[in-house]
Amino acid sequence: MNVVDLITKKRDGGEHTDAELQFLIEGIVKGAIPDYQIAAWAMAVYFQGMTAAESTALTLAMAASGEMLDLRDVARSELIVDKHSSGGVGDKTTLTVGPIVAACGLSVGKMSGRGLSFSGGTIDKLEGIPGWQAQLSAEQFRHQLRVVGLVVAAQTTRLAPADQLLYALRDVTGTVPSLPLIASSIMSKKLAAGADAIVLDVKCGRGAFMESLQQARELAQLMVSIGSGAGRRVTALITAMEQPLGRAVGNILEVREAIDTLHGNGPQDFQELTQAVAAEMLLLGDPQLRKKRESAGYEVAADTARLRVRTAIDSGAAFAKFAEFVAAQGGHAAFVIDPERLPAAPVALDLAAERDGFVSAVDAREIGLSVVALGGGRQKKGDAIDRRVGVVLAAKVGAQIQTGDSLCTIHATDTPVAQFVASRIRDAYTFAEEPISVSESSCSFSPVILERVTR
Ligand code: URA
Repeated sequence: MNVVDLITKKRDGGEHTDAELQFLIEGIVKGAIPDYQIAAWAMAVYFQGMTAAESTALTLAMAASGEMLDLRDVARSELIVDKHSSGGVGDKTTLTVGPIVAACGLSVGKMSGRGLSFSGGTIDKLEGIPGWQAQLSAEQFRHQLRVVGLVVAAQTTRLAPADQLLYALRDVTGTVPSLPLIASSIMSKKLAAGADAIVLDVKCGRGAFMESLQQARELAQLMVSIGSGAGRRVTALITAMEQPLGRAVGNILEVREAIDTLHGNGPQDFQELTQAVAAEMLLLGDPQLRKKRESAGYEVAADTARLRVRTAIDSGAAFAKFAEFVAAQGGHAAFVIDPERLPAAPVALDLAAERDGFVSAVDAREIGLSVVALGGGRQKKGDAIDRRVGVVLAAKVGAQIQTGDSLCTIHATDTPVAQFVASRIRDAYTFAEEPISVSESSCSFSPVILERVTR
């Protein structure tokens, strides 16, 4: 087989065979194919797309390019459940759903990533808790899954190495926003990480990779089809990411908001998403709920799942599981029991509204980029970040405001940087004269859950 032939085949709209994709992936991992050829092929895929069969074959080849975890012998439940978000602003859902689902008796083993550009990352958030360790050996990962039932670790280079190499090239060649490449990138890591049941949270809107509902739907359908084809139980939720999720954007600020939510006090949209994702994980992973779903239908089983989620929160079991998980990974639980003790930025600057009206949009991407400008996120991989900084929104879409009301608080390392970012954040807000009506036809602010996609 010849790489040039494969590039031209895809350039001209041809369909790869499984063997051709296997050849490409092996060549990437062995270093046998130069970067310029891989980049040319990725660009051909970007323009020509892939069939579902090609995307599945590419995913399986990438998943098998490194270690494939088998965690069944250390699971506390019959199935290991996982969730994945396609990336967004203010998305701290793993911090809440992991403990809730584990408190309900399922095993949650998760590899997570770091933030890049406007999109945050779970590992950066958790590392804001003093002492918490993201780097776990395979043995530590397995031990914690057995003992605590919940583990979140940084993705190792041994997991889906083909994706890591390909992603690094896509990142610098304008080929990240390709549906089949995104789907195979995400699903290869999920398959390699050993989960039997996966809930995908596909974000849609200004703060997401997929800006339109149609694109998000296609990505969700493709990932569900890939996962099901690989023998996993998969459900996708398409969720709104037009404005930031919750009120807090910035690593430690988001940890605080996640803790509030585990105590039942989080912002309404974040509580809604947390409960929906956790309920879907239970529906996929809990044998009794699966039986109920078969006998009584989805809605009845989903009601029971949501009730179990709320009970885990109201009883304190979910927060207790979070504290146990933090301590198991070296974190000082005192900081989560009393989040006021978490490190805080030295400057908190209130941004006041300069007019009366109704907030009609808060551009999630601009808020995410503002947090990067404050030092809370990365422009490029490996950049150092300050986990204390960020933004807490006082006014979200729909809020009625008067001149002088607080729009948000900017948490910064010093006053000049806070003032510099303030004008950018002000521009992220759009106002209307009249109250805002809820639109269900786009990635709007409400409802939070736009669609549910299953096989
Ligand atoms: N997240 C991933 O893991 N891969 C992509 O290609 C895009 C988002």
